[in-house]
Amino acid sequence: MNRPVDAVLDYLRAQQGRGSTHVHLDPEARAGLRALQELTRNGGRPQAPAPEPAAPPERTFEAPSAPVRTAPAPPPRPAGITTLTITGSTLEEKLASVRHAAENWAPARSLGTLRETMVFATGDPTSRLMLVGEAPGHDEERKREPFVGPAGQKLDLILKAMGFTRQQVYISNIVKFRPATARQATNNRPPTPDEITACLPLIEAEIDLIKPACIVALGGTAATGLLASAQSVTALRGSWHDFRGIPVRVTYHPSYLLRSEHDVATKRKVWEDMLAVMERLELPISEKQRRFFQ
Ligand code: URA
Repeated sequence: MNRPVDAVLDYLRAQQGRGSTHVHLDPEARAGLRALQELTRNGGRPQAPAPEPAAPPERTFEAPSAPVRTAPAPPPRPAGITTLTITGSTLEEKLASVRHAAENWAPARSLGTLRETMVFATGDPTSRLMLVGEAPGHDEERKREPFVGPAGQKLDLILKAMGFTRQQVYISNIVKFRPATARQATNNRPPTPDEITACLPLIEAEIDLIKPACIVALGGTAATGLLASAQSVTALRGSWHDFRGIPVRVTYHPSYLLRSEHDVATKRKVWEDMLAVMERLELPISEKQRRFFQ
């Protein structure tokens, strides 16, 4: 029996055969698939089977003199599904193909709530450490590079205390476009759940390519997106989480540290998270480093 879900599966298998590795479903497609799942839960059959159509009256046709051969048409794309195809053979080429997909990423662009400029990632794609932030702001949009404004300067200091430069780690954002506001000047806003969901396949593809030994989720937006958790940063920090087998440490966003510049206790919490990351990466830690912000 040709079930509606088969059309979706045919399409996804065909895309997979063409090299697609990630897929975005818009809310309607998501709801549609859920409905199909309900429909087919009963052993793959609709609950009340439709009556068999009456057999058509027998007719004979004359065979054409030569069979006409046509290539099988690719299955049509079901509405609301966007696939991401990674191309290239080297890591750099593959990442460039994700960057290219991000530029024209329809699930994000079609929302109409994100700005035009796409800001991808920076740093070393072979690094064992990946840091994921929220979304570009005014400064990042201008320079087309994540974390170059005041929060980025704070992040640079944290990395320096760990013994890294920003060129030695891979830094990206969950959302690749600056969230738009009315009469926007330099003000920024956090991304909405729809904006996060729309961009998720992009960061997932980056993580699959980079395969870092450890991910730091900077702030609640990154943590919510990567871990699909509604818990606060305070609840999530202090232990290891998992993203497809990769350990994730959640910490406060650098801009939160900027807002609590004189709060040494918060700085110490962030630093303890980074010490845990350094231990996980088996990096040397001096006694002086262990005592920072105590
Ligand atoms: N905040 C983020 O989360 N990301 C940036 O790139 C800049 C500020």
